[in-house]
Amino acid sequence: MAVQMWYLLLLTTSFVSLRSHGASCPCEKEELCKPITGQKDYEVLVFDVGGTDWKYYDWDMVTTVAIFGKYDPNLMCFAHSKGARVVLKGDVPVSDIVDPKNRTAWITEKVNLAKAQFMDGINIDIEQEVGKNSPEYYALTALVEESTETFHREIPGSQVSFDVAWSPDCIDKRCYDYTAIAKSCDFIFVMSYDEESQIWGDCIAMANAPYIKTLIGYEQYLMLNIDPQKIVMGVPWYGYDYPCLKLSEEGVCSIPKVSFKGAPCSDAAGRQIPYSTIMKQVNNSMTGRLWDPFQLAPYYNYKAEDGTIHQVWYDDPLSISLKTQNVWLLGLRGTGMWNGDLLDYSDNSIAREQTQAMWKVLKPV
Ligand SMILES: *[C@@H]1O[C@H](CO)[C@@H](O)[C@H](O)[C@H]1NC(C)=O
Ligand SMILES: *[C@@H]1O[C@H](CO)[C@@H](O)[C@H](O)[C@H]1NC(C)=O
Repeated sequence: MAVQMWYLLLLTTSFVSLRSHGASCPCEKEELCKPITGQKDYEVLVFDVGGTDWKYYDWDMVTTVAIFGKYDPNLMCFAHSKGARVVLKGDVPVSDIVDPKNRTAWITEKVNLAKAQFMDGINIDIEQEVGKNSPEYYALTALVEESTETFHREIPGSQVSFDVAWSPDCIDKRCYDYTAIAKSCDFIFVMSYDEESQIWGDCIAMANAPYIKTLIGYEQYLMLNIDPQKIVMGVPWYGYDYPCLKLSEEGVCSIPKVSFKGAPCSDAAGRQIPYSTIMKQVNNSMTGRLWDPFQLAPYYNYKAEDGTIHQVWYDDPLSISLKTQNVWLLGLRGTGMWNGDLLDYSDNSIAREQTQAMWKVLKPV
């Protein structure tokens, strides 16, 4: 009888431990599967979109990797060995989580997935239209609150962040309760790019993240009484390639009218291109690198194979460093970029230098 009881107890405990851990740890050392705890002085959040470039990230700097591509256990083990968090991507149609039961079910699924993959939280990236004071408006706030509460409880030390547009001013009709969202999660990640998604003035090619406009966005978030330590500045590692209908003598590129969310003209007339591609193109372009002293951003013109002239607007170490210096001035929590895989990590000295320079300015001295 005593032996049977003992056996039963053994069975039960092994069943429980299997359930709580889900899968077995894929890392060399079991301790690398433990969640990362504590907060670094300066956050650097990287979006990883897949592939193996993560091996070449500047790991002295990275504090969080948001997995927007396929989950790679090797990345998790490596990040943990560097003390960096690895977090899930969270996205769901907001109309589906108006029902509180659906909301809880979604969160439970995400927490279980994070646990099974030994991850340290979630980055919620809901880039959907939401009307102010609509049922979705309240549902989204509740989703972030409940996600944070559940993740923090179920995975001690875990991090919940939320991606927001460059300004809280209903950009792309995203009218969220930014104050409440920022209050309930660990931080908001401000996507200071695609700032010309709604062009109301002249339909012309402009910078992806002009300096003044970018800073106005942060001032607006701070005016909502959001703690600066709850704000991470996001910068672009990509640019926009616009076909010009006409290039004026002053170099202004008129672009096709492509409307977006009520605005007559938008950056959707252009094509997003990685910094790595830009660096291969700029020196052989018609103009080489030019600098716009008003938007504080680089650009160049090139002639495409079909003979049309294109204007490319982008960010480089200079334009990014001007923006990231404000992280210190405003007392923000850190920086991040979309995305970590847009640089040239190949093994040649020019690429290496350019790539290092882009990483370096994420944490200005
Ligand atoms: C719950 O979510 C499912 C999809 O996940 C959706 O089809 C359904 O409409 C949602 N129900 C409510 C009441 O929101
Ligand atoms: C392009 O020109 C700049 C400035 O002269 C130089 O530093 C850089 O190495 C060049 N890039 C390539 C890919 O040759």
